[in-house]
Amino acid sequence: DFGEMRLNSSGTNLHIQSETEPFMNQVKHYLDNQWHAKPIIDGQEFTSEEEQVICPYDHSHTVGTVHKATEEQALKALDVAHQNFIGWDVTPVQQRSALLDKVADTLESHKHELIALCSRDGGKSIQDGIDEVREAIDFCRYYAYNARNQFGHEIHLPGPTGESNDLYLQGRGVFACISPWNFPLAIFIGQVAAALVAGNTVIAKPADQTTLVAYRAVQLMHEAGIPTSVLQFVPIRGSVLGKVILSDNRIGGVAFTGSTSTAHTINRTLASRDAMLSPLIAETGGQNAMIVDSSALPEQVVEDVIHSAFTSAGQRCSALRVLYLQEEIADKIIEVLSGAMQELRLGNPTDLSTDVGPVIDMAAREELQEHIDELKAAGKLIAETPMPEGLEGHGSFLSPVAFEINHINDLEQEWFGPIVHIVRYKAKDLDKVIDQINNYGFGLTLGVHSRNESTALYIDKRARVGNVYINRNMIGATVGVQPFGGQGLSGTGPKAGGPFYLYRFATEHTRTNNT
Ligand code: NAD
Ligand code: ALA
Repeated sequence: DFGEMRLNSSGTNLHIQSETEPFMNQVKHYLDNQWHAKPIIDGQEFTSEEEQVICPYDHSHTVGTVHKATEEQALKALDVAHQNFIGWDVTPVQQRSALLDKVADTLESHKHELIALCSRDGGKSIQDGIDEVREAIDFCRYYAYNARNQFGHEIHLPGPTGESNDLYLQGRGVFACISPWNFPLAIFIGQVAAALVAGNTVIAKPADQTTLVAYRAVQLMHEAGIPTSVLQFVPIRGSVLGKVILSDNRIGGVAFTGSTSTAHTINRTLASRDAMLSPLIAETGGQNAMIVDSSALPEQVVEDVIHSAFTSAGQRCSALRVLYLQEEIADKIIEVLSGAMQELRLGNPTDLSTDVGPVIDMAAREELQEHIDELKAAGKLIAETPMPEGLEGHGSFLSPVAFEINHINDLEQEWFGPIVHIVRYKAKDLDKVIDQINNYGFGLTLGVHSRNESTALYIDKRARVGNVYINRNMIGATVGVQPFGGQGLSGTGPKAGGPFYLYRFATEHTRTNNT
């Protein structure tokens, strides 16, 4: 029972709304805006060398400009965050939570602009943009609610007569919140909201590719009442942040979402410091599989494969990458999947009839294309969605593909795009399949399609992953409903949108008072 909270980040209940003309007209109104992002430090905006931002689905369109923070500006942000930590941490949690609720309201009232910006800056479809805004709002309300319950009181503990013992939570200090481009609003705001409501001050570092969305989010958070002294916006290259900020002993914790290799780099930076021992909350990549046994319903499987693998052009950490098909059902599913992929529409993500938009930029496209070329040489192409005439070259578009493969050597790394690898298996080898999935080392999501309940639950128990989805698609975790996050190479185990998440941002404090 979350009281008055409105949890609907899966977005499905808003789908109808997105199709109404007035709603779309309001989003379209913002599509030709020009946005300009600058560092915001202690409420002041700074300028430096200006970079142009190009729209992922229309390379002839400039979305706006970004001024990166300099090293000096980043250090000033750290000074401000550090100086203001204690004052913010002793601010009653009721007040901090109320501010997050106001942020949620402010995001809601700016949803049309934010959806347009997610498309222009991050290449997101309108539906993805709606989901982003909903999830960002849900994070704010959910963390506000949890903070009130978890931080709002002291736990009185037993002790000898004359002595009182009390336990309560405190913030850890300055948190560096580092986010990826594929959820430029939801993950950016989710990290910042959690860190702030737990009593930390924040250095918010957006992804280079989607700085405009993050800048607007910080402006709105400040507008909603988050003090400018506790939230600093530092758009800076990741390597520079690592060198200048994460190496500083004043950093009390890092919340990071992004690739596994960057998490390793951050871990090494924190470990190289000679004073503070600060936690790293890492949520990283996945090599996510779906196991389909012969009792599954082919049409439902294909619908869920398409949704799981190609929504957001496959650029979700949760997305399906490896589809294991039991041999008795494999041909049927491959046939239906191949037909369905021919029908997908690749194109402008702001057009409601588009199924798959662009990948984030040409560098990502080239890397994925290289992998596709290797698969074409070594594997069997099952299907490739047609590229509409004139689209290639207009933006960073890549056709969704499915390949059948005989070996899994190529699957040691995450391929972050619309590519599905299909592997057939024999019923007697189910355990080997589960072992293989566990041996990838990643552990984020796993899909299971089986009408045999005991098989599905057996797989669930044996799989070393954070989120298992049975007989449905495997993306779009809802805040407070499907706490989301992985293990192993997929992260240090926190569950964003889960009841224990805020504890990761806090430290426990015991007071013993001999009265
Ligand atoms: P990335 O690792 O390249 O970058 C993530 C962030 O880290 C960016 O802000 C980047 O600038 C910053 N960064 C880079 N080097 C740094 C350094 N040395 N020190 C500090 N910060 C540094 O990842 P990406 O390409 O932006 O995002 C895609 C990745 O994110 C995929 O691997 C995806 O699976 C993962 N992801 C995971 C989750 C999850 O919840 N598990 C959610 C979304 C995305
Ligand atoms: N939480 C996001 C999803 O489930 C990454 O797709």
